[in-house]
Amino acid sequence: MSDLFARHRAVMPNWLALYYNEPIEIVGGKGNRVVDASGKSYLDFFAGILTNMIGYDVPEVREAVERQLATGVVHTSTVYLLRGQVELAEKIARLSGIENAKVFFTNSGTEANETALLLATYARRSDQVLAMRQSYHGRSFGAISVTSNRSWKNNSLSPLNVHFLHGADRHLTQFRGLSDADYIAACVDDLRHVLATSVGGDVAALIAEPIQGVGGFSMAPDGLFAAYKEVLDAEGVLFISDEVQTGWGRTGSAFFGIQNHGVTPDMMTFAKGLGNGFAVGGVVARGDLMDGPHAAGLATFGGNPISMAAANATLDYVLDHDLQANAARTGALIIDGLRQAAPRLPIVGDVRGKGLMFAVELVDPATGAPSPAIAARFMEETKKAGLLAGKGGLYGNVLRMAPPLTLTQDEAAEGLGIIVNALETVNAEVTS
Ligand SMILES: Cc1ncc(COP(=O)(O)O)c(C=O)c1O
Repeated sequence: MSDLFARHRAVMPNWLALYYNEPIEIVGGKGNRVVDASGKSYLDFFAGILTNMIGYDVPEVREAVERQLATGVVHTSTVYLLRGQVELAEKIARLSGIENAKVFFTNSGTEANETALLLATYARRSDQVLAMRQSYHGRSFGAISVTSNRSWKNNSLSPLNVHFLHGADRHLTQFRGLSDADYIAACVDDLRHVLATSVGGDVAALIAEPIQGVGGFSMAPDGLFAAYKEVLDAEGVLFISDEVQTGWGRTGSAFFGIQNHGVTPDMMTFAKGLGNGFAVGGVVARGDLMDGPHAAGLATFGGNPISMAAANATLDYVLDHDLQANAARTGALIIDGLRQAAPRLPIVGDVRGKGLMFAVELVDPATGAPSPAIAARFMEETKKAGLLAGKGGLYGNVLRMAPPLTLTQDEAAEGLGIIVNALETVNAEVTS
């Protein structure tokens, strides 16, 4: 065990998961690659959990932050006008497609979801919320209460009354083999039944990830949320799309993940990639919902001048370079390659993804059961070969990968090669 690993174990919580048998310390980065403390270089297919959205050491972001630092002001609080907040809010409001949209900035995705839940429960005068099975929305009480993954729920204490819906679980026996249309119909039926049987009075909102991040990139078929929204709209139930992982063009086919369903939600929450590593999150919501609460509110550090400089520069970069189109192009190359390899690899249970957000589900070839052990072997193999990947899913058996949106075609081909080689190596071990 390295000295730093031992010191980490001594003073950091046990539940702070570390990747790899010998965890690495990343000490440098440029473009889409990082270097660890031993000098080993990696192509980064996890990007600090989808957060280093346009790679490392990006001059446009660095210079924007340095310009702000040079003013001597890193914080003023929101009782003074903040130009960076107003500029960024204008851009996000426009991109959201939400009517009369307004934006509130936070420091994290958790806080963003807390804010959205507050706005929804306030507007609807209800503590009842709908969420999706296998979801992850953060680590505070409100966010945990709408999270539906036992590995991330330490207790059932909840400020909300929550009912969980189907929609990203078509692997379940009762849904297996259904067409998209039949699965959507079954889920909508269930939603109607929940509303008829399980709630008392008005429901505040449905909160959902268009593609479940921690849930291993499980996703509803396109169109499910449009079908849900029709039912919700009839009862005035609000719709919150958690775009913490799916925003800013990552899915290639849409700028926000929920737009793949042809839906404009009442609110969207965001964080992770927007600041390219600088802490920024927030909510964009219909103006009437955002303006609703009667009491005062603020986030001391939320939207501070440094994170706003980074976020404005990052978002401008994404738009100026049309990185959504790049995500579509390079993502298709990788997902197609993985789909081609899958039939000859019995350890691969499923390949799924959209744009630069793709996953490989690993199973025991003898039983078809989820295999976290095989996933752990894959992680060690890709580490050895110089590629960083992530893990997720209800059973920790899903390899999830989401490189920076700046990934080049050559890097996509290189990464695909490493992934397929690692799968072949582990497959041979398991099936020999
Ligand atoms: C979909 C989703 N929502 C919310 C969060 C919480 O964000 P944060 O860790 O910034 O609080 C995460 C974090 O992984 C997430 O994936």
